[in-house]
Amino acid sequence: SIEALGSPLARRVEVHGELPSTQERARELVRAGAGHGTAVLARVQSGGRGRRGRQWVSPPGGLWMSLVLRPELSLGKLHRITPAAAVAGAKALWELGVEARIKWPNDLLVGGRKVCGILAEGEGTCVLLGIGLNANLDPEETGSPAATTLRRELGRDVDLLRLIGLLLGRLETELGRAGEDFGAVLDDWRALDCTLGRRVRVRRFGGVVEGVAADLNSEGALLLETPSGTVEVFEGEVEKLRG
Ligand code: BTN
Repeated sequence: SIEALGSPLARRVEVHGELPSTQERARELVRAGAGHGTAVLARVQSGGRGRRGRQWVSPPGGLWMSLVLRPELSLGKLHRITPAAAVAGAKALWELGVEARIKWPNDLLVGGRKVCGILAEGEGTCVLLGIGLNANLDPEETGSPAATTLRRELGRDVDLLRLIGLLLGRLETELGRAGEDFGAVLDDWRALDCTLGRRVRVRRFGGVVEGVAADLNSEGALLLETPSGTVEVFEGEVEKLRG
């Protein structure tokens, strides 16, 4: 069982056959008093959600999980959770033999195709960290032409419990480092990145910006070099990678 992995991130675990969304179930649990160490998984999600209100197709075989975190981070540092989770996810995949790269801010790609998405949302004093990993699926089942799966990349299925164990272990480490040693997390982010140095188009709430992704600042914001100077992008979505 998942509890037997002994992770402090998964002391109380709910595994469902089908849920609309593990993220919404985790939110309900927090409202009912659950805290750090609560994990919700579902074999199938009928209403899985991605970032920016998109749908997240979640058939059997994937890893659909939400973790309730009450991080030891001050409010002003909560944005560090998503880059830390991306680094953790990428490292867990490398341990499985999958050469995952991070597309800013927190998509994991293999060979330019998305294999994992991360969704961090606040609920009261908690953060709901949703992880969607296309594990034992065929790419066609993901509903996205730009997606890949671990099955496709490895040519075999993975043991989901082992995958969860690797992921939780890495998350503990990276979330721990996010508070005091975030620079080290960002150095690892850079080593695993596939966005920097490229010409990108970023959609954010204020509209669209284009430029060359030069680096991250000390808080993980993307530094974009545009014709009118360097722009710091704190949130958004890279729509296009070129070069
Ligand atoms: C994204 O890349 O847009 C983020 C996708 C996050 C999907 C996961 S699957 C588990 C959790 N439950 C949801 O409804 N969404 C997240």
